[in-house]
Amino acid sequence: MPNLDMFYGLLPYFGGKRKLCPIIFRQIVRHIPRDKWQGMVFVDAFLGSGAVSLYAKAQGFKIICNDIAERSYIAGKTLIENNQTILTYANIQKLFLPNPDNKHLIEKEYVPDVFIKRHAEFLDNAFANANRPIDKYLLLKYIFRVRP
Ligand SMILES: C[S@@+](CC[C@H](N)C(=O)[O-])C[C@H]1O[C@@H](n2cnc3c(N)ncnc32)[C@H](O)[C@@H]1O
Repeated sequence: MPNLDMFYGLLPYFGGKRKLCPIIFRQIVRHIPRDKWQGMVFVDAFLGSGAVSLYAKAQGFKIICNDIAERSYIAGKTLIENNQTILTYANIQKLFLPNPDNKHLIEKEYVPDVFIKRHAEFLDNAFANANRPIDKYLLLKYIFRVRP
């Protein structure tokens, strides 16, 4: 069984299957021996938080995953497709630089119902600076931290 610390990287998700992964994969092993998993293709039609695909990736499967939600698409790009890109301190600092393309969407649409003004101002500017999926994923993690 892989080290489950990787699940701390996931976005919280109602209906996430992280606790079920060992059970799901115990069923798979009944049909396909574990020593054949390396390089086999695992198809996850509903990625959600990415728990099942991440578990499969850690077991050596190649992953094809899909989800209609942009949140999950960003998770897939960051955690499943990506094997090399990491976040550095410099990447995080760049999110704070004032961006002239900031559309202030969150501030206009979601204050005060969802976010306080200070968080919305930060998020609008940071999303304008977030070019890579991993940057956007970090901001999604931030959102769940300030709005659990
Ligand atoms: C229960 S969640 C999947 C949970 C996932 N296995 C996990 O462990 O987090 C279902 C997912 O299916 C996605 N979904 C629902 N209908 C869809 C559709 N027609 N096409 C693609 N994705 C869809 C939702 O956006 C949601 O992320």
